[in-house]
Amino acid sequence: MARVLISGGAGFIGTHASIVLLENGHDLVVIDSFVNSSPIALQRVKEITGLNELKAQQRLKVVEGDIRDKAALQKIFTDANNDGKIIDAVIHFAGLKSVKDSIKSPLNYWDVNVNGSCCLLSAMQENKCRTLIFSSSATLYGKPKSVPISETAAIDPINAYGNTKAAIEKMLADISTADSDWRIACLRYFNPIGAHASGLIGEDPRGTPNNLLPIINQVAIGHQKVLKIYGNKWPTKDGTCIRDYIHVMDLAEGHAAALDSLLQKEHQFLTVNLGTGKGHSVLEVVNSFEIATGKKIPFELSTPRYGDVGITIADPTKAKNLLGWEAKRSLVESCKDAWTWQTSNMNGYQQ
Ligand SMILES: NC(=O)c1ccc[n+]([C@@H]2O[C@H](COP(=O)([O-])OP(=O)(O)OC[C@H]3O[C@@H](n4cnc5c(N)ncnc54)[C@H](O)[C@@H]3O)[C@@H](O)[C@H]2O)c1
Repeated sequence: MARVLISGGAGFIGTHASIVLLENGHDLVVIDSFVNSSPIALQRVKEITGLNELKAQQRLKVVEGDIRDKAALQKIFTDANNDGKIIDAVIHFAGLKSVKDSIKSPLNYWDVNVNGSCCLLSAMQENKCRTLIFSSSATLYGKPKSVPISETAAIDPINAYGNTKAAIEKMLADISTADSDWRIACLRYFNPIGAHASGLIGEDPRGTPNNLLPIINQVAIGHQKVLKIYGNKWPTKDGTCIRDYIHVMDLAEGHAAALDSLLQKEHQFLTVNLGTGKGHSVLEVVNSFEIATGKKIPFELSTPRYGDVGITIADPTKAKNLLGWEAKRSLVESCKDAWTWQTSNMNGYQQ
């Protein structure tokens, strides 16, 4: 079993992935600045995986820190060496992810995402840790020429967030070319939704949510009056945008499969889509949410958002062939789990 450094492990995807990795027997060190998350999320991870404080000291260490802080990163590697259990691999979730904010504050996005990755990779290189899973995004495909989108499609992002993900992938490709000891998987996520079935952890963005399911949840509990649907003239069957929504636990299991694959083989540089291969329109998501929860979601039409695309659907064949992984959970199950999280935590992790 490996010891894995998880950057951004307190976030939405990082917490769910941490559960699967701990359940699979790996030991984790999390570094998170909590800029978009709460330390309570990691307490909940301990609760779900049955780690008492003593066991957690060995299996889930938590470091509050920024990935741009080179001294903090070095201390993690040094402490691990001194423990006699080195860091075997890194899963790099830490970063900023709002398309809207990235258009307003591109420098901040380039600093945290690209410079942050650069700092993390330097620390890995210096400490001879050369196995990495990177949180990439379907955003880097921009406006795809056709769907489903395979990994060979053009990389052509249309916003600053997507540009940072594309730049990091290029940086990783360069590192991989320069040094054949690196084993790297760029996992290109489509649209993660849902929550752990316990309702103890879920998506809890700071400020106003930008993603569909958290907004639907907010409407369902009455924190927002109505769901705004951005455009009904997209080239889809009901005119609303289509996305490939993937349950966050399926996504988490995809990371475990990618880690196993990297650790088993020599030099690799993988780019792999993690999606379901099925597209659902905004209206279909609303309908599934209503079926799953019995709640009615009022909606109104609004103008399309700058930087949006009409349809994105993954071709997940490579993930199945290479990692032996495929998404199992349904859209209704995702909506049900997101709702359980919301109703058990009306204000997210804030108590
Ligand atoms: N959620 C999505 O829809 C989605 C889709 C595609 C890709 N991704 C990528 O997956 C990764 C995780 O996404 P998420 O949804 O869990 O986001 P999140 O915001 O919930 O988690 C990111 C975590 O990183 C931490 N963080 C941010 N900047 C940091 C820094 N400089 N140093 C240390 N920690 C820092 C945050 O506090 C947070 O806990 C991100 O890189 C994101 O771009 C997310």
